[in-house]
Amino acid sequence: MRIAFAFTGAGHLLRESVVLAEKLAKDHEVTILLSGASEEVLKMYGLYERVAGLTGGKYRELATDSNQKFSYPITGRLSLGKYDLLIVSPATANTVSKIVYGIADTLVTNAVAQSGKGAVPVYMVPVDIHPGPIDTVLPSKIEFLKCQDCDECVASLACEQGAIIPHEEIDLTKCIGCGLCRNTCPYDAISEGKIVTIYMRDIDIENTHKLAEMDAIHIFENPEEILDKI
Ligand SMILES: Cc1cc2nc3c(=O)[nH]c(=O)nc-3n(C[C@H](O)[C@H](O)[C@H](O)COP(=O)(O)O)c2cc1C
Repeated sequence: MRIAFAFTGAGHLLRESVVLAEKLAKDHEVTILLSGASEEVLKMYGLYERVAGLTGGKYRELATDSNQKFSYPITGRLSLGKYDLLIVSPATANTVSKIVYGIADTLVTNAVAQSGKGAVPVYMVPVDIHPGPIDTVLPSKIEFLKCQDCDECVASLACEQGAIIPHEEIDLTKCIGCGLCRNTCPYDAISEGKIVTIYMRDIDIENTHKLAEMDAIHIFENPEEILDKI
């Protein structure tokens, strides 16, 4: 199969989505599409290189919001029916709401719109699917109960991106999730993958319901279900 695999900027189910893309890339031609936010968020969770490593060759490209400019020429392939499937996993509340209201002004929302025109089925894993709380995973974070506010913060010195503001925060726009800081801090004051509970907003759940009613869009609770379906 020829598959376009789109990531959006959700931390929830992101690692599982990367695993799905890796499994599919073994047996299929997979083109990766990254929203601007997903480029950043994949880096924060240390997953960007794994995704970029899946690409190389025709129909195995890495297309991003920035390299596709404003008209997203690569999505023309979807309107011409050159793919068997478009996967969007994970799908943020932002991307879901745009799709539901017919907005196509990002690479990923445009890919969904063009798939509709080319009769390409779309499999999506929206993050906001059930009302109430969900447990989700954070990127790197300074733990203030453990941080000793050292005169010289070895973790910030180790960070090649200059992302650590000692005893304040990690600048996630610079963080690439490499883990050097975590391995260096003698007080174990930097966490990664901490689980937090967040609450789904009603409007996002409503939008997911509307998404599920759209023609040719199929909703899945998690990326593993897509693998079973394929
Ligand atoms: C670390 C991190 C994790 C995030 N996780 C989520 C998430 O799980 N779900 C979500 O809807 N947005 C999440 N966001 C916010 C989105 O990245 C933001 O809404 C962005 O505008 C989405 O753009 P996109 O839909 O074009 O990818 C997260 C942001 C950051 C920095």
